[in-house]
Amino acid sequence: MSEDAGLSAQAGSKSLGKKRGNAIVLTDLNTEEAPPPRTYCGIAELDRVLGGGMVAASATLVGGDPGIGKSTLLLQAAAAFARSGVKTIYVSGEEATAQVRLRAQRLELGDAPVQLAAATNLRDILTTLETEKPGLAIIDSIQTMWSDQVDSAPGSVSQVRAAAHELTAFAKRRGISVVLVGHVTKEGQIAGPRVVEHMVDTVLYFEGERGHQFRILRSVKNRFGAADEIGVFEMTGRGLQEVTNPSALFLSERGTPQPGSAVFAGIEGTRPVLVEFQALVAPTPHSQPRRSVVGWDGSRLAMILAVLESRCGIPFAGLDVYLNVAGGLKVTEPAADLAVAAALLSAREDSALPEAAVVFGEISLSGGLRPAPQTENRLKEAQKLGFTTAIAPSGGKARASSGMTMSQMPDLTSFVGEIFGAG
Ligand code: TYD
Ligand code: MG
Repeated sequence: MSEDAGLSAQAGSKSLGKKRGNAIVLTDLNTEEAPPPRTYCGIAELDRVLGGGMVAASATLVGGDPGIGKSTLLLQAAAAFARSGVKTIYVSGEEATAQVRLRAQRLELGDAPVQLAAATNLRDILTTLETEKPGLAIIDSIQTMWSDQVDSAPGSVSQVRAAAHELTAFAKRRGISVVLVGHVTKEGQIAGPRVVEHMVDTVLYFEGERGHQFRILRSVKNRFGAADEIGVFEMTGRGLQEVTNPSALFLSERGTPQPGSAVFAGIEGTRPVLVEFQALVAPTPHSQPRRSVVGWDGSRLAMILAVLESRCGIPFAGLDVYLNVAGGLKVTEPAADLAVAAALLSAREDSALPEAAVVFGEISLSGGLRPAPQTENRLKEAQKLGFTTAIAPSGGKARASSGMTMSQMPDLTSFVGEIFGAG
């Protein structure tokens, strides 16, 4: 930057900046500055969630339930980064190096040039990092690390905070990327990853339903890329395999359309993903009907039920309502509203939705419908998976080029009338 002799004004303001402290006027900043260097590990699902590979000297937190597969994922990542030329050290505070090596062999990574260390004392780890000077250090897990400067047990809030702070500060100073693994813990017991979230550049959560074989890596914060990006993996005996076409996976158990089922054409981060919403609506034996949701927001469900009742005159009082996202994905997009309403109505009326149709659109409290962003991407994905019709709000930017038939609805009442006849 300073060699940039042509920018004399900038050089001038720099010396000014020195006199006034370190503040720089925004317009004086060199916008041509190169983006931070990144390394791709070759596991495309991971590289994308990171925002396009690992940024040098960045700090990343990977959180998740115990047993969800974090150590497996990160050992695979360590091997991949090491193979792509990054000096990588994997520090386990939970397993002996022999155990980690066995795991690596099981994952067929025995020959990857990863350095392994078993340590929990922060001072030892910093010394190791100081002498080894790796490009990437993985700390599994932050809850097992302890600093002798802090007078409490490993896993306590003050230890986790101190360890994370020291590791990230040290790594930034020395240009090392660090990945901290954090177990999500039952509230109140020991410190979970939330304590660390604000100290790192990127926060990823590894999620999945226990009964299901696939896992989702989701970015909830990313200083270097889009939040809400997901990577999809399948668990196998040989570790995690990438799922390059998640829509096909999420819809794989679906046969002919059943009442209560609606396929939502969603967007997760930068990628379109189709998922099936399943609803069951049945008379309740209880005085208070049940509302049960898996994979979606419970209060959003209450809102949709209220809108259906007060704007379209379709009561759900006296009916139990169960709503489920098939496959264990957590959907957060407001555009899922219309798919949820479709699944609920289809279940209530015991009438299947049109075959080969996808649904998307946001519902407002007035019963109006709002077009969803990235309509074109949703349509393309739906078409790729063999769908021919899209039920969506009017006014979305849908072009004929996608080859899908658009069934456009001005509001929820028209939707109910059109799809389920008069309502
Ligand atoms: P592990 O990576 O140890 O989970 P965490 O570090 O989050 O606690 O995985 C838990 C168990 O699941 C472990 O015994 C290995 C097994 N496993 C597989 O067999 N295949 C896989 O693809 C994954 C992710 C895990
Ligand atoms: Mg582990």
